[in-house]
Amino acid sequence: MDWGMKNRLSKLVRPQTGRSIWLAMDHGYFLGPVQRLEKPGVTVKPLLPYADAIMLTRGVLRNCIDPDTSPPVILRVSGGNSIQGDDLSNETLLAGINDALRLNVAAVAFSIYIGAKYEHQTLVGLSNLINQAQEYGIPVLAVTAVGKELAKRDVKFLSLSCRIAAELGAQIIKTYYCEDFQKVVESSPVPLVIAGGPKLKTETDALQLAYDALKSGAIGVDMGRNIWQSRNSLAMIKSIRHIVHENASVEDAKKLFESLKK
Ligand code: 5RP
Repeated sequence: MDWGMKNRLSKLVRPQTGRSIWLAMDHGYFLGPVQRLEKPGVTVKPLLPYADAIMLTRGVLRNCIDPDTSPPVILRVSGGNSIQGDDLSNETLLAGINDALRLNVAAVAFSIYIGAKYEHQTLVGLSNLINQAQEYGIPVLAVTAVGKELAKRDVKFLSLSCRIAAELGAQIIKTYYCEDFQKVVESSPVPLVIAGGPKLKTETDALQLAYDALKSGAIGVDMGRNIWQSRNSLAMIKSIRHIVHENASVEDAKKLFESLKK
């Protein structure tokens, strides 16, 4: 692996622990102003020191994030769909490698939609992006998207999606946690991180989700709503970080959360 690629990956995955906690805040690219991300810069500002990286679009990066203090950036470069449209899988490459370089990103992120109407388009899109990103030593994060069909998140579907993303050359994959998640991990020769998904009932549920995913072999989380939609988002990111980087149990992370919450 070339030096630039290694160096970027070391910014994303902490070499000391081999793990990562990323803050996902790219939701607006198809959902618009989701609750608590109406003013993304304001919502995430206090959380940034606790994130190993942020995942977002170039529009929000340029307009809402201070370049002097930003954590490493995972730039979402796919899109072209909206929650109002016919089919969420109709995604393609929107932001090119030149802009990614200009923004000094640590990685680029692209969604694939296995089994969906635009499966082929997203797989070819991912491959083309990998071809370009490889030229410049930029890691590609493949996102195994499910669109509106959250029930798709099972071991069979996620193993298939992750394996295909790895076969096409993605350096890291973002997927969902599911029952028997270790089988999804085993099916992929490259590391997996998990999304949080829609906000869970309690903060403890989200802590448990992070804990279970890591225990089953994920190297980290790329979590959004379960952090910044919490009324105690700062306590939440610190508690998730405690699990990710300090191997804390759910009980210990919960104690930390309770001691920090307002
Ligand atoms: C959408 C994404 C989001 O970044 C992802 O879903 C993570 O955020 P959350 O933890 O809120 O699910 O990649 O395709």
